[in-house]
Amino acid sequence: MSDSALLELDGLHAYYGQSYVLQGVTLKVPHGAIVALMGRNGVGKSTTLKSVFGIVKPRRGRVLFDGSDLAGAPTHMIARRGIALVPEDRRIFSSLSVAENILLAAGGRRDAIEEALQWFPSLKAYLARPGDRLSGGEQQMLAIARALVAQPRLVLIDEPLEGLAPIIAEHIEQALDALRGRMTVLLVEQNLKWLLSVADYHYVMDHGRIVHHGDSDWLRAHPELIEQYLGVAA
Ligand SMILES: Nc1ncnc2c1ncn2[C@@H]1O[C@H](COP(=O)(O)OP(=O)(O)OP(=O)(O)O)[C@@H](O)[C@H]1O
Ligand SMILES: [Mg+2]
Repeated sequence: MSDSALLELDGLHAYYGQSYVLQGVTLKVPHGAIVALMGRNGVGKSTTLKSVFGIVKPRRGRVLFDGSDLAGAPTHMIARRGIALVPEDRRIFSSLSVAENILLAAGGRRDAIEEALQWFPSLKAYLARPGDRLSGGEQQMLAIARALVAQPRLVLIDEPLEGLAPIIAEHIEQALDALRGRMTVLLVEQNLKWLLSVADYHYVMDHGRIVHHGDSDWLRAHPELIEQYLGVAA
C-alpha cells in the first residue's frame, strides 16, 4: 500500500464504561481507496467508525487525518475537516422530502440534486417523497447520497447492505465505482462477496483488534481465515 494514507488509525483503544472494546486498532486508508473493515458481530467495527467520527472518544491512540490527530475532537469539527459518516440507522429526516434531505446536506448547493442522481439514478422517481415513506433501500441510497453531496474527503459507511435486496447492493456498488479514486471510503460490511468486488483492501477485525489485512486476491486465497473470522464459507 502507498504510504500516503488520508486516514491512519494508530493503536486506538476505546471503552464503553468498563467494557474494553477497541484494543489497539491500527489501519490505513490511502487517498482515493475503498477500504473494507470486516468481522463478526460485536468485534468493534461500528465503534471504530464512531471513534473516527468523534462519537466515541478513544482513551488511547491516534486518529491521523491528513497528518493531524483528530482523536478526542468534537464531531462537528471532524465533519468540518471533511469526514462524513453514514450510520447503520441512516438518520434520514423523515418529514423532509428526498430533495430537501439532499439540499440540506449540501448547504443549499443547487447542483447537489443532479449530482446525487448521477450516483443513484433511481432516486429520481422519489425526489418529492418524504423520508418516512421510503423503502429501506431507498433510504440507504439517500443516506449515502446525502453524505456525498457534502463533498467530504473521507466517507465512513456502516453496513450499507444490511437487510436490503441484491439490487440495492448493485446500485451502491455502481455509485462507489463512479467515485473510485476521487473519494476515499472506509466501509464496514459483512457481505464478503460484495466486498471482494467493491473494496481495494480489506481489514479483518476480531475482539477489538485487526487480525489480518490484504487485498481481494489475498482474501480469496485464504478461505480458512474467512471461515474463522467471518463465520461464512469462502
Ligand atoms: N453504546 C454502547 N454501550 C455499551 N456497549 C456497547 C455500546 N455499543 C456497542 N457496545 C458493545 O461493544 C462491542 C462492539 O460493538 P460494535 O457495535 O462496535 O460491534 P460491531 O462489530 O459493529 O457489531 P455488528 O456487526 O453487530 O454491528 C459489542 O460487544 C457491543 O455490545
Ligand atoms: Mg456494527
